[in-house]
Amino acid sequence: MTTFILTDATAMMRFGESLGSLLQAGDVVILDGPLGAGKTTLTKGLALGLGVTDPITSPTYVISHVHQGVRTSLVHVDAYRLGSHVEFDDLDLDADLDTTVTVVEWGEGRAEGLSEEPLYVRIRPEDDGDVRQLTLSGSLDRWAAVIDALRGWS
Ligand SMILES: Nc1ncnc2c1ncn2[C@@H]1O[C@H](COP(=O)(O)OP(=O)(O)O)[C@@H](O)[C@H]1O
Ligand SMILES: [Mg+2]
Repeated sequence: MTTFILTDATAMMRFGESLGSLLQAGDVVILDGPLGAGKTTLTKGLALGLGVTDPITSPTYVISHVHQGVRTSLVHVDAYRLGSHVEFDDLDLDADLDTTVTVVEWGEGRAEGLSEEPLYVRIRPEDDGDVRQLTLSGSLDRWAAVIDALRGWS
């Protein structure tokens, strides 16, 4: 588990962009943190890193959005109102898990059915300000390499 400190929303987006540029098709990223933590803001950055040009908005009411990136597509899911076990087919998407990067807000304890080896990103607001503490963890060797490549941020 590695911790990063992001001091404002711009830093969160830039961090997301760096992380996004390291992601590849088939990756599942599970985002957790309370309402307003910055999950959607981080996803905006991830989208930039994947070369997505559409605007990223919270998929709260529609559950998921699919965006076309340069190397892969991006599936952005809000699992808050889904049950405790989400399968990709439940999302009823015109996309394929193997050819997309799937990012799931509120995914912890819900989206594990999408991948046995997700990257977990947990966002914790510090006090009432803009500072966020972000911890990354994942059991794949590749996740260790991705986390290592981001280490300059810590
Ligand atoms: N360090 C930070 N990281 C992310 N968002 C931040 C940060 N500081 C302030 N914010 C603000 O907090 C809000 C986060 O909202 P959002 O990304 O929609 O959260 P969530 O999806 O977790 O509910 C945005 O208004 C953003 O501008
Ligand atoms: Mg959100």
